[in-house]
Amino acid sequence: RDEPVVLGIETSCDETGIGIVRGHTMLANAIASSVEQHARFGGVVPEVASRAHLEAMTPTVELALGRAGLRLADVDAIAVTAGPGLSGALLVGVAAAKAYSLGLGVPLYGVNHLAAHVAVDQLEHGALPKPCIALLVSGGHSSLLLVPDVARDVISLGSTVDDAAGEAFDKVARVLGLPFPGGPHIDRAAREGSGAAIAFPRGKYDDGTLDFSFSGLKTAVARWVEAREKAGESIHVPDVAASFQEAVVDVLTRKALRACAKYDVQDLLIGGGVAANSRLRAMAQERCDAAGVRLRVPSPGLCTDNGAMVAALGADLVAAGITPSGLDIPADSSMPI
Ligand code: KG4
Ligand code: ZN
Repeated sequence: RDEPVVLGIETSCDETGIGIVRGHTMLANAIASSVEQHARFGGVVPEVASRAHLEAMTPTVELALGRAGLRLADVDAIAVTAGPGLSGALLVGVAAAKAYSLGLGVPLYGVNHLAAHVAVDQLEHGALPKPCIALLVSGGHSSLLLVPDVARDVISLGSTVDDAAGEAFDKVARVLGLPFPGGPHIDRAAREGSGAAIAFPRGKYDDGTLDFSFSGLKTAVARWVEAREKAGESIHVPDVAASFQEAVVDVLTRKALRACAKYDVQDLLIGGGVAANSRLRAMAQERCDAAGVRLRVPSPGLCTDNGAMVAALGADLVAAGITPSGLDIPADSSMPI
């Protein structure tokens, strides 16, 4: 019980996440989301997100403390997402973290959001193998990382050159008349359709890089639907959803396993909101089994943005003896890994 209690604050997008951990034991993971406020705009509106973070911050911290059965005075360190993300949204979290750190007289750790998506898996599946490969896919990012040590050394191998994977799901859902955020709706619709019904393009499939591209696919789906509608033909939404999803998942898993082979790594972690996708989980498991790679995927509530992931990485930084951040750390919307 002498491991430090770390409170993690996540505000990089539309979730105000407050997590509390003791070492790698999760004590609380409270979330307030402004997702419904963005739905009618079809995407996250930064100004609306920032305001919602400000309103949710104190109540969500209190909710988390209550669930953990702790008081603020029990917190030994504060960790906060310092980037990448929406700058106004990040600022709210970083300002709150500084205030808690100063007020409580405990160290502050500004952390990278992507590294936190990797670190969170340890709350469920134990210490990360060193090294591992991480595929992070969400509405804001699509990245392949080589992770020798999540506290000290995370290397970017590739990322999307245009849309993020989740963004492609959301945009295609819109074309198909499905609500925002569209990922879960496409996943559900696709179960009634065939992934082989329509041959949609797979961007950067065999280009030798570990980068992704989804905007060509998104446009191809939109053109396909438009052409059918113009011709007065009805479209079978489940087939379009399944065929689109198959193209995304095929590219993601192909490149993730290619990264494992290239760096001779036998452990793959998948995180981010799109990791909730049932077809991605199934195809990743099949391809990992065939390649002799072990697959780790956090449960859906820890894949999407949350505070526990920030607290988990904070606990790693404390354990690794990393120097805390100064109270002058900036929010860095384009923080590199
Ligand atoms: O990690 P996250 O909660 O927030 C960030 O974007 O950082 O990810 C949200 C994204 C959205 O684009 C959403 O459509 C997608 O994850 N998503 C899914 C599924 N569940 C959520 N995409 C595909 N299939 C799903 N089941
Ligand atoms: Zn994220």
